[in-house]
Amino acid sequence: MQISFAAMPKTGPLASGSGTLVLGALEGPKLAHETDSGLSAILTRAMTAAGFKGKPGQMVEILAPSGSKRSRILIAGLGKAENINTAIADMIGATVTGKLLDRETEVTFAIEVPKKAKISDGEFAAHLAFGAQMRSYRFDLYRTAPRDEKPTLAKVTIATAEGATARKDWEELSAVGEGIFWARDLVNEPPNVLYPEEFARRTKVLAKLGVKVEILNVAHMQKLGMNSLLSVGWGSARPSALVVMQWSGAPKGKKTAPVAFIGKGVCFDSGGLSLKPAGSMVGMKGDMAGAATVVGVMHALARRKARVNAVGVIGLVENMPDGAALRPNDVVTSMSGKTVEVLNTDAEGRLVLADALWYTQSRFKPRFMINLATLTGAIVTALGLEHAGLFSNDDALSAQLSEVGTAEGELVWRLPLSDAYDKLLRSKIADMKNIGGPAAGSITAAQFLQRFVNNVPWAHLDIAGVAWQDGEQKALIPSWSTGWGVRLLNRLVAEHYEG
Ligand code: BES
Ligand code: MN
Ligand code: ZN
Repeated sequence: MQISFAAMPKTGPLASGSGTLVLGALEGPKLAHETDSGLSAILTRAMTAAGFKGKPGQMVEILAPSGSKRSRILIAGLGKAENINTAIADMIGATVTGKLLDRETEVTFAIEVPKKAKISDGEFAAHLAFGAQMRSYRFDLYRTAPRDEKPTLAKVTIATAEGATARKDWEELSAVGEGIFWARDLVNEPPNVLYPEEFARRTKVLAKLGVKVEILNVAHMQKLGMNSLLSVGWGSARPSALVVMQWSGAPKGKKTAPVAFIGKGVCFDSGGLSLKPAGSMVGMKGDMAGAATVVGVMHALARRKARVNAVGVIGLVENMPDGAALRPNDVVTSMSGKTVEVLNTDAEGRLVLADALWYTQSRFKPRFMINLATLTGAIVTALGLEHAGLFSNDDALSAQLSEVGTAEGELVWRLPLSDAYDKLLRSKIADMKNIGGPAAGSITAAQFLQRFVNNVPWAHLDIAGVAWQDGEQKALIPSWSTGWGVRLLNRLVAEHYEG
């Protein structure tokens, strides 16, 4: 799908061009585009007949009048002028694309944004493009026959009075979009294809964008003492790996300590010897979504040449049962020197992150560490599929994440940490055990991680409920995997850590 921007048609939008024309209508409904009175009358009649009120998300479709080269006209509801924002533009771009994907070849958006709107005409146009891009995502690598109609929509043109702004914003947004597609692809891949070393290998393409990529193999990690991470892979036929990605975009002489993103990359989580029941194992190819998001964020930052130094560290393992597998009751010594009594091998994500966090803070002394992990089923019980769980030792970082999350539509909700919860991790024979009791499962998992964080601002995002979707599909996410977190973290950097 090719996306481009053009000037607003001066003569009346039906005078030229082919394919579907998309116009906007404010709540009322009231057409947002000045057009000739003949066409106005036709559109007004159609809106009335359809009971269309111009609310965001509402849409009317009519066949283009004879004499026009257009095939049809779509009127998209914009809502109240003063409420028009990027989310509405994203949604319209995505919804229209979804509607036309397999029954049209060309579409032109000619929506005029009123002055009263929260965003400019150029920004609106760029976000229409972003919505269209998001909705065009597909993962058909393993189909030999198309599931439904083949996509035909090849050309998307967005008319705007502010082409320069639109193109500039789109350059940034499409970089983020590419990062999201990367993350989605990695999460959708089956685990027999995307095992730890293959995942690591795929991160190397980031080098083309100027990202330094290092892959640490098992021997290297053994030398570093990463036995907590490595123990998870003991039962797997696939060797574990750790990938370190560095983007150095900060202007010379500016703050050079990097921001750091750390991801849980369990390429398949069977539970290990504490084996999951069959039903719970399905979907556990996605247990590397935290790592995928980190790759997606690094891609976005590098692609848009973000003025920041950033590191991404991902721990890649496969959690399997086997004669050599980690046992409940085993004690492992982590890179920090702290010992962990493993009482449940299905609480493996925290074992991976313990060493990845420790390594990141020791080597990079980062400005902050944010880790992402599909860490606990309990977070789905607590927050459902709407918010990711946020745990943090830093109120400022936490507030930034909450704010940015709301703006980007990737919501987070903070849950507590305290000594009282930390006590639940006391072990009878080692420094800690890897599970708490039956209560507060997401919090005790976060407490476990915090034991591997020193005096660094840190946030843990438990994304078990938002990394993929088994139920209803969202307008911008036509896929099982969501790519959740790429937008959030990219915007966090853009708003607070660049320059
Ligand atoms: N990867 C799972 C968490 C998970 C569950 C993610 C459901 C997405 C959907 C994690 O490794 C796990 O198994 N956690 C256990 C922890 C328990 C053993 C303390 C869980 O949530 O049951
Ligand atoms: Mn598990
Ligand atoms: Zn897991």
